[in-house]
This record gives sequence, structure tokens and C-alpha cells, in this order.
Amino acid sequence: MTVSRRIVLAGGAVAGLGTAAAVAGCSAGGASGGRAGAASAPVAVSGPGIGTATVAFHGPRQAGVTTEPPAHAAFVSFTLARGTDRKALGRMMRLLTDDAARLTRGEPALGDTEAELAVHPAALTVTFGFGPGLYRAAGLPSPVADLPAFTVDRLQDRWCGGDLLLQICADDPLTVTHAQRMLIKDARPFGGVRWVQRGFRRSPGVHPAGFTQRNVLGQLDGTANPRDAAMETAVWNPDGGTTLVVRRIRAEIETWDLLSVSDKENAVGRRMTSGAPLSGTAEFDEPDFAKLDDTGLPLMPDFAHVTRARMTDPRFKILRRPYNYDEAPDAQGRPDSGLIFASYQADIERQYLPIQRRLAEKDLLNEWTTPIGSSVFAIPPGCAQDGWIGERVLG
Ligand code: HEM
Repeated sequence: MTVSRRIVLAGGAVAGLGTAAAVAGCSAGGASGGRAGAASAPVAVSGPGIGTATVAFHGPRQAGVTTEPPAHAAFVSFTLARGTDRKALGRMMRLLTDDAARLTRGEPALGDTEAELAVHPAALTVTFGFGPGLYRAAGLPSPVADLPAFTVDRLQDRWCGGDLLLQICADDPLTVTHAQRMLIKDARPFGGVRWVQRGFRRSPGVHPAGFTQRNVLGQLDGTANPRDAAMETAVWNPDGGTTLVVRRIRAEIETWDLLSVSDKENAVGRRMTSGAPLSGTAEFDEPDFAKLDDTGLPLMPDFAHVTRARMTDPRFKILRRPYNYDEAPDAQGRPDSGLIFASYQADIERQYLPIQRRLAEKDLLNEWTTPIGSSVFAIPPGCAQDGWIGERVLG
């Protein structure tokens, strides 16, 4: 099934418009016949609910960027196999696009060996990113380059880089696992898994809609993200593409826990309970960096994270879409927790780097956060129903 499916999809590519028909034809075979051991047609669930929620896959922009972040995520980075050239990359992206389109609709991937696991898409999104190495392999100039080294970095190879990225998000961890397995299976002939980072946010229903999430340090995280028109400008390029920076940042929870609440608040410049800036009273009050306390000191400390990270011009803001991680503690019980810090911006050089440079130079929060992984990806535009992600780059 896998082989014939590849042939069908590759043939469709050659025939141009034939792709959609070829895929549709294969779909019927996949659902009924399938690979040896494939399950019969899955039972669809009825009624609205978290499990049945879907996010449209097709469109001019990829989903999973400005769409509401679901509770669970897997960031899967691949190293391309030697000899995977532009043509092979096109074949790979046709396959993976087809898988992602089906799975996000709540349908099994072709040749899905656990079709039952596909019936709860739970707002599944699959977002594809291309690293500098993918462009090299395709013989094309890369629109993204690895970040320079920063003094705060303690990077570990096992969390860095990648030629292809899949950001798989859903409100159910089993849905993420299943999509990850299906996609890796089809990507395997083209490359190996370099790293997987799994993360989580609050589960649906825990907060009222629109509530800012808390990170593992207990902070409200996401308050000052650009919204609406500001988000449009900050995130999207005119072609429907964007860029992604993924940093794995360890939280030094042991020493953070020794701080008083006011010390924690000074490090960030916002209240722990409400997320209000120290110069204001409510979460969405604009921070006033000129406001002084009774002793004449700025209420927003000069080196607080928010003071250092602030960009006033909406064109230079970034959209932070982080996930928490929490792995097994070490033998002494010390936590292995932190953020999979993911930020989307139209241009890394213009938007991300100035903020990162300022934070690396001076940020009170640096004492309790350590970047241990770093990677960059171009996020190509979305695609129409008969298209595939990356077609304008690789086609
Ligand atoms: C583990 C690491 C980090 C933690 C725990 C953290 C936490 C926070 C918190 C609590 C806020 C205030 C609330 C909000 O607006 O979301 C904030 C704001 C912000 N952070 Fe971070 N952050 C981290 C890393 C980074 C990195 C690596 C960058 C970019 C290089 C960054 C850029 C920003 C920006 C741009 C803001 C908004 C500033 C404003 O305009 O008010 N943060 N962060």
C-alpha cells in the first residue's frame, strides 16, 4: 500500500492536475482495503465537542500559527537523508500534505494502521517548516539562517537544528501521538528524526475562552502578544508564509522557587496573580516605563524581562506561541521543566533578533532560564485542496 501510494502520488505530481484525482482514487482503496492489518472504516463520532473540533488545513496560510494553540504539541525535527534532492522533497511534501489534510479532517491517513485513532481530530493542526538544510538540499537560497550564538546559550546538539519541522498540535495527546506516528512513517524514506519536543498548555475548559495561559514558572504568558491587525503585520508575509524560531529554554525551578513573590514580579515586570504590569492594576494595562515609585525608582525595573523585550512598533513585534515541557526529574528530584519557546514573525532578522540580543545582554529573568536548544524554520504558505505545502518553493 505504501509503495503503490507513493507511486500514485508521484505520478499525480507529474500529471499536475492529476494529483487530486489520484489521491482521491487512492483514498477509497485506503479506507476499505488498506495495508495488511489496516482497520475497517472507523466509526465517526457525532455531536459537537472538543474531540470532533477541526481546524481547516487548506488555505493561503498554514494553520497552527495564528490559530488558537491547542493543549498539546509535538515539535518533530528531521535531518534529511543524503541524496534527498528537490524532486524527492516534492514527493515527500505531497505525501505529508495528504496525510496532514486527512488527519486534520478526522480521517485516517492512507494506509493508517490505527484508523480508530483518527476519528477525534481535537482541533489537530500540522504545520510544516523548512530549515536552512532543506533549501541547501534543494539547491535553493535559504530565507532563514541559524541564530548567532548568545552568551546566555547552553545549547545541546540534541535539541538544535533540523531540515524539516512538523509542529503537530491538538487538544488530545493521543491524537498528537497518532498524527506524529503516521507522518514520521511517511517521512522516513526521506530523512531521520533529529529530535522531538513534546509540550502542553492548559486543557480546554480549564479557563474561560481567551484567558492567557500560565507557564511552568507560574506566570501569565502571552499577554502582550500582537492581536488582530497588529498580528497580521507582525506575522505574515504577503505570500502567506512566515518564520518560526524554536528555542528549548530550561526553567531553573529550584532557584526560582526560592524567590519571594515580589522578586519574581520584578524579574518580569508583571504581577504573578493578575499579570498586570507593575505600573498598573489590570493584565492588559499598558506598562508605563516612566512611572516612578515613592522612592523615585521606575515601577517597571529597567532590566525586567518585559522592559527589555518590549517593541513599540507593531511591525517589530513577535507572536509567542510557547508550550510548557516537563520531563522526568533527575534522581535527586530536581525538575526538568521549561518552555518550548516558539515564536512566529514575518522576518527573524528584523523582529526576533533585536529582542533576543537585548534579552541576552540584560534581562533579570536570565538567571532562571537557560536556552538549551535552538532552531529556525521558514513556514511556507498554505495550499489549496489540490495543492501541497511547499509547492511554490519546490515545485
Ligand atoms: C523561558 C523563557 C521565557 C519566559 C519564562 C518568558 C516569560 C514571559 C512573560 C511572563 C512575559 C510577560 C507576559 C506576556 O506579555 O506574555 C513575557 C513577555 C515577553 N517575552 Fe518572554 N519569556 C521567555 C523567553 C522569551 C524569549 C526567548 C523572547 C524573545 C527573544 C521573549 C520575548 C518576549 C516578549 C517580546 C514579550 C512581550 C514584551 C512586551 O511587549 O510587553 N521571551 N515573557
